[in-house]
Amino acid sequence: MKGIFITFEGIDGCGKSTQTALCKTWLEELGRNVLLVREPGGTKIGERIRELLLDKKNSSMAPMTELFLFEAARAQIVEETIKPALSEGTIVICDRFFDSSYAYQGCARGLGPEMVSRLNMDATGGLAPDITFFLDISVEGAIKRRNTRGEEKDRIESAGDSFQEKVREGFIRAASGDKRIVTVDASADPETIFKQIQDKIKELL
Ligand code: TYD
Repeated sequence: MKGIFITFEGIDGCGKSTQTALCKTWLEELGRNVLLVREPGGTKIGERIRELLLDKKNSSMAPMTELFLFEAARAQIVEETIKPALSEGTIVICDRFFDSSYAYQGCARGLGPEMVSRLNMDATGGLAPDITFFLDISVEGAIKRRNTRGEEKDRIESAGDSFQEKVREGFIRAASGDKRIVTVDASADPETIFKQIQDKIKELL
């Protein structure tokens, strides 16, 4: 069986964790080996980089530093985890991948989507997801969802609502230019969202 690489994207609080978990359980019930990982992180080195990136004490981090740290963590997880798993026929589900750099660093931080797209390709050695689900929700909708979870905000989540708005526009822009990215209305109930995701994945099984 061939491996399949599936990624989930969206602004903070869009409901990715619920959907990635549902997907993993469903695909395992179908008898597939599934690996669920997250970015940044997923490797020992990547988790160290994640701490640097999300630590609120690092408020002076330059946007370019931030971008290279995300790309560094990505290069590591691709080499160490994702490529080997795919070559063994595992389905890899990644909670965020390079479209997050496109939207957050390229668009919202203003580093430029073209430059980020090039670096994304370099960091992954050209490995792109087979399918990407962009869980699209309004910034207000995401805030409501986050408030019910009651988690503390990390450095990037603390950047403010207008930043999240720009991130959302970045994802919309990425999705408009690439058939790989499937936009799902993330304001719907979790079962409805999951049904749409299942239908698309079934086409790849
Ligand atoms: P995380 O706690 O994983 O957020 P979430 O649960 O919303 O996915 O933190 C990751 C944060 O890093 C999140 O705010 C998005 C941001 N990010 C980028 O800015 N660029 C990237 O390339 C990636 C992968 C994440």
